[in-house]
Amino acid sequence: MYFRPMSDQARIQELVVQLNEHNHRYYVLNNPTISDYAFDQLLQELQALEQQYPQWALPNSPTKRVGGDITDRFEKVKHQYPMLSLSNTYSREEIMEWESRATKLLTGSGDLFSNHLHEFALELKYDGLAISLSYENGQLVRALTRGDGEVGEDITVNARTIRSIPLQLRGNFPERFEIRGEVFMPKDVFERINAERSEAGEELYANPRNTAAGTLKQQDSAEVAKRGLDCFLYAVLGDNLPFSSHADAMQAAMDWGFKTPLAFPRYFEVTRSVQGIMDFIAHWDIQRHHLPFDIDGIVIKLNTYSDQNELGLTAKSPRWAIAYKFKSESASTPLLDMTYQVGRTGAITPVAHLQPVVLAGTTVKRASVHNADQIRKLDLAIGDCVFVEKGGEIIPKITGVDPTAANPHRVPIVFIEHCPECGSALVRQDGEAQHYCPNEDGCAPQRIGKIEHFVSRKAMNMDGLGSETVSGLYGAGLLPNYAAIYSLKPEQLIGLELTVGAEDDSKKRSLQKKSVDNLMAGIEQSKAVPFERVLFALGIRFVGETVAKKLAKAFVSIDAIAQANMESLLAVDEVGEKIAASVLAWFERQEHRDWIEQLRAAGVQLELDASQQPAAESNVLAGKTVVVSGVFEHFSRDGIKASVEANGGQIVGSISKKTGLVIAGDKMGPEKKKKAEDLGVPVLSENEYLRLIGK
Ligand code: IVH
Repeated sequence: MYFRPMSDQARIQELVVQLNEHNHRYYVLNNPTISDYAFDQLLQELQALEQQYPQWALPNSPTKRVGGDITDRFEKVKHQYPMLSLSNTYSREEIMEWESRATKLLTGSGDLFSNHLHEFALELKYDGLAISLSYENGQLVRALTRGDGEVGEDITVNARTIRSIPLQLRGNFPERFEIRGEVFMPKDVFERINAERSEAGEELYANPRNTAAGTLKQQDSAEVAKRGLDCFLYAVLGDNLPFSSHADAMQAAMDWGFKTPLAFPRYFEVTRSVQGIMDFIAHWDIQRHHLPFDIDGIVIKLNTYSDQNELGLTAKSPRWAIAYKFKSESASTPLLDMTYQVGRTGAITPVAHLQPVVLAGTTVKRASVHNADQIRKLDLAIGDCVFVEKGGEIIPKITGVDPTAANPHRVPIVFIEHCPECGSALVRQDGEAQHYCPNEDGCAPQRIGKIEHFVSRKAMNMDGLGSETVSGLYGAGLLPNYAAIYSLKPEQLIGLELTVGAEDDSKKRSLQKKSVDNLMAGIEQSKAVPFERVLFALGIRFVGETVAKKLAKAFVSIDAIAQANMESLLAVDEVGEKIAASVLAWFERQEHRDWIEQLRAAGVQLELDASQQPAAESNVLAGKTVVVSGVFEHFSRDGIKASVEANGGQIVGSISKKTGLVIAGDKMGPEKKKKAEDLGVPVLSENEYLRLIGK
């Protein structure tokens, strides 16, 4: 029988349906049915087909989720239905009053018998930004911010990158409707972004809400896509909707593919009693600290639309809903001392020591104060009573000095000038918020921190070398640096007494044979860790996982990186001057070069393995830096670069007097040609180049 293969157009449609389904399973239901790898394969297939047939690409294709559109500014658009706010209160009495007022209005005063027959929908008050999404025929057509409630900004390109916002609905949805919800940043994403910023010496973000707000208003949607935003929906609006209560609307929205609170235990409840409302408040007042995102209260809504319509709206907010807001957990306690912690990169973080105080159910003894500016801004002095607050972060922070308990003899804290660990004079680079100890190789916490980084999961992944053991071995003099790991001998270690724990609370612990065996096995296995991760493990400042990958790919071996210059480093994708300078400075130090030799002797991977390297063709360009410019007949842009590298050359971005060779394609700019000639750099045509490499 004649078999007709599926057309490319049909395959595009099929892939869109499949990928949207997998996205929904992953981001909304938390229940993926294929591996990330298999997902990426399908996505790549779709990307390739869409590139080949742009005319068939669907507007709501999941490939649009990676972003990439850059807007100049966001267009202002009037809301079809104004975005109201909620009246709110911090008092449970006022919630009870609201309930009895609402009940009275609905039943007519005096009708005592029909009390408590009205349903209240109870849900969380997510602490993010309101968003209004319009769908037509099941497709997301527009996303607006709240703006002033009447007019919002069109942030559709950014909203498309949020995985829990469906681009294409499933099931039986109305032809057109709006759905509203809250975009937020989960706490763990926020912590991760701040950890990365701290690592890069950048100013930290204040809280998840502001970070989400800043992210949603970014002009570059590819950046938004990387930021892990999420969205809960809380209201459906439209004409002739096929349901008659808020709870039914939430159920329908879930069936269409939205992330609604119904999918999570106790995020949403319907009750008929004041007691039910109070129980819900009491539950979340405690449990909110364990949620993966911030909430600032709970929202109580009349459940049925008929009840809602009966109560109606005031100018600013509906009468049928009210928010109970949690007091942000804050306590006032004396500031006893300020100490300073030195991180792996030498960053100095002030740590406030407080008189222990109970906050949000846990006893707080320390609080973080980000940096010197923060100390000055808060105007802190030892002995002050300070307010501490638990925000989005895990560690509480000081938000101010209690003016009612001012200390008349207060001496404001002056930030330290010398490293508390090694005494070096601290430095603070222009534009950086953090002070640093520059004594990278002589400052104990920096050395220990670097060893911890080296053995960590994403680096050499050495099982059995926890941070207590690392500092214990460092303290015992057996582990002055990470390269020394490979000289550790089991007989030195078994039974060894280590001092572990912080100074004020240290213990002795002796190493058992079993943990030493485990440690040795971990060390052995680390010798197979690929070069790019070894490069990351070295702890060169600003060389994170991504940059390490790029460098490994561009230079192939540690020796080539050690010999690189500013120019050849800058030619690598994602490497700017700050990173290049840091790499150069690192390899200048003899001690670091010694470590590399120790790692080499131990058998650690210091180059990409053969399967990751482009096949070498010749050595004719060995030691030469090469600039390619223009358009080539026999090569793509990447192709000619790969060819230069396969013949031993190193690609650089711009012509200087050190450039070894320029390969000029068609349409090479005349200024470039002139520059090369002026500097006496040889210029080859494509054919001359082909002859040079013997083709
Ligand atoms: S309903 C007409 N439900 O709170 C009522 N709002 O202060 C519309 N919010 O702008 C809001 N969680 O951004 C509703 N479960 C929830 C909410 C919620 C957070 C936000 C929303 C709104 C603000 C009102």
